[in-house]
Amino acid sequence: MPTLKGAAERAGELRAELNRHNRLYYVLAQSQISDAEYDELMRELRAIESEHPELAAPDSPTQRVGASPSPEFAEVVHPVPLLSLSNVSTEEELAAWHRRVCELLDIDGFEMVCELKIDGLAVALTYEDGVLVRGATRGDGERGEDVTANLRTIRTVPLRLEGDDFPSLLEARGEVFFPGSAFDRYNKERLADDLPAYVNPRNAASGSLRQLDSRETARRPLDTLIYSIGRAEGGPAPRTHWKRLEALTRWGFKTNPWARRASTLAEVVTHYRTAEDARPGLDYGIDGLVVKVDDIGYQERLGHVGREPRWATAYKFPPEQVTTLLKEIRVNVGRTGALTPYAIFEPPVHVGGVMVHQASLHNEQDIRRKGIRHGICVVVQRAGDVIPQVVGPVGGATEESDYTLPERCPACDEPVRRDESEAVVRCVNARCPAQFVRLVEHFASRGAMDIEGLGEKLAVVLFEEGLVADVADILTLKYRRDTLVALERMGEKSADNLLDGIEKAKARPLSRLILGLGILHVGGEVAELITRRFGSLGDLRKASGEGSLAETLLEIDGIGPRIAASVAGWFDHPGNRKIIQKLRSAGVDPIAETSQETGDLPLAGKRFVVTGRLQHLSRAEAQARIKLLGGSVTSSVSGRTDFLVAGADPGSKLDAARRLGVNVLDEEEFLALVSEHEGELA
Ligand code: IVH
Repeated sequence: MPTLKGAAERAGELRAELNRHNRLYYVLAQSQISDAEYDELMRELRAIESEHPELAAPDSPTQRVGASPSPEFAEVVHPVPLLSLSNVSTEEELAAWHRRVCELLDIDGFEMVCELKIDGLAVALTYEDGVLVRGATRGDGERGEDVTANLRTIRTVPLRLEGDDFPSLLEARGEVFFPGSAFDRYNKERLADDLPAYVNPRNAASGSLRQLDSRETARRPLDTLIYSIGRAEGGPAPRTHWKRLEALTRWGFKTNPWARRASTLAEVVTHYRTAEDARPGLDYGIDGLVVKVDDIGYQERLGHVGREPRWATAYKFPPEQVTTLLKEIRVNVGRTGALTPYAIFEPPVHVGGVMVHQASLHNEQDIRRKGIRHGICVVVQRAGDVIPQVVGPVGGATEESDYTLPERCPACDEPVRRDESEAVVRCVNARCPAQFVRLVEHFASRGAMDIEGLGEKLAVVLFEEGLVADVADILTLKYRRDTLVALERMGEKSADNLLDGIEKAKARPLSRLILGLGILHVGGEVAELITRRFGSLGDLRKASGEGSLAETLLEIDGIGPRIAASVAGWFDHPGNRKIIQKLRSAGVDPIAETSQETGDLPLAGKRFVVTGRLQHLSRAEAQARIKLLGGSVTSSVSGRTDFLVAGADPGSKLDAARRLGVNVLDEEEFLALVSEHEGELA
């Protein structure tokens, strides 16, 4: 057996050799050895590592096979947030972006880099002294998931960087994708194994990267294209984007060979056309070009607005359009009784990567204007690449259609009411089953009472079986457990889970209950405002009884006459007053976290932003304490921000705060401030 020193040396050689062949094969698409020779090197390395577990290293190619399942992914706070992109869809818009950049920099032109905008999943790969130590998903840009073990299994992700001129801390960013050529084959395998097929390569990439067992990820053919440096410390990073791409390539990353430089808009447009032509032949989806300012100094000067850098923009391709038969226009009745028409397609069509069966048609006027009617061939696209939309008849609209919404509600057959000012047609029958089912669904939804297991299907059953006639009945279902258990596809276990979920929901805060009541024009934010003014359901009911509810609501900043009338009207209604009574007797009467008027509170009117990692409390706790003292919390720093609370690794918000002259508090200063005021209140 070799000595430990000998083994360590040999392991080092083997790793270097395997990593080199790996890169040749996967990144550069060349190979110098046969598969068998490669396997032999790998076997030898595995043997050494199992003999000497102390030699195992995170950058060893043996680590690509995947590790044992992790219970869940840890959260990663991105030290520098991952931004998103503004977008333009015409040459004029592109020119406006270019002009704006010139104005801001006070120059006549600038060098650009044009890259393909890949439809995959953004990831951040962190290397310390050239070794991959962490890989994270983008998440919401501020926080992602630690998927290091899974990213390690991707062959084009270097476990150790090449060369010696990389910064000691490097965060490379790019896109993970599921190659189109492997997608259909892979889906067939899934179907054969009785697993649901992925709708598109992007979902397949996301699903594969978020496997809890990285051995499963290792079996998927994921690939990467790296396009930027997020962080570079302890060593120079080139000062142009183009040179950064070259450096990333040198360090072993797979970068996109389609990246091009451009000095003028005409060149950008040429690259755009080339990319459009190349699109069908690529092994990954793209939805446009990303145009970036090349000079990093310029990038830094330009900064970003909100989450969008001023130094880059996405020049999007026009959305894919397909044609199909519009078989029928149906009408949906929403929670507030609004009738919305929607189109049924026959056959369903594949557009923008997903199968589309139907699309909302918004309202009567829109349908008429676009000349949409049933039985004709229409053009379908996905607006903003997401929501399916009917563009109009194939060949364009020749005349307006005569479509009208029904005079009677399709669910309850009661006459509908046309509200001209709102351009909405509504079913105003308080007992309309369609509205009620939607209301139950809404009441139980995540943002409201969050009752697990209570979705649309069960809502229909509960209504049809006469178990619930208003939302308060949901909370007394435990007294009807036997009937519940006897429902089709229910049984003891599901019934108890549901009842358990309902009991838990009784503890939700007042704002979520108010939201859940489904009062017209009351969304989460308004519910929050009402909660701050009124301490409990009882207070609201009392104000309503005294006839002062509407006026009091109007005093609240952010509530106008339309909302005030709607809320006051709701609480005035005898049926609704009964619901409140029932809720209270079922034990649901949350007290607002603060029943004082915020105007009296010490931090009233003060706007806070919290960023970075805090040591002694979570961000949610920090935010709750600010709100309890009457302050408000927003997500981005602006000139109107009063305080930025900055924890460790605060990122760009700190820069923004400094630039705008916003007060910056570190964690200790923040704690001192809130404790002092909390003391005042006590
Ligand atoms: S640059 C400046 N370059 O697009 C920051 N992003 O809408 C944006 N994307 O989340 C990153 N290809 O996932 C950049 N060549 C490319 C890209 C690209 C795809 C994605 C990325 C980001 C999203 C922004």
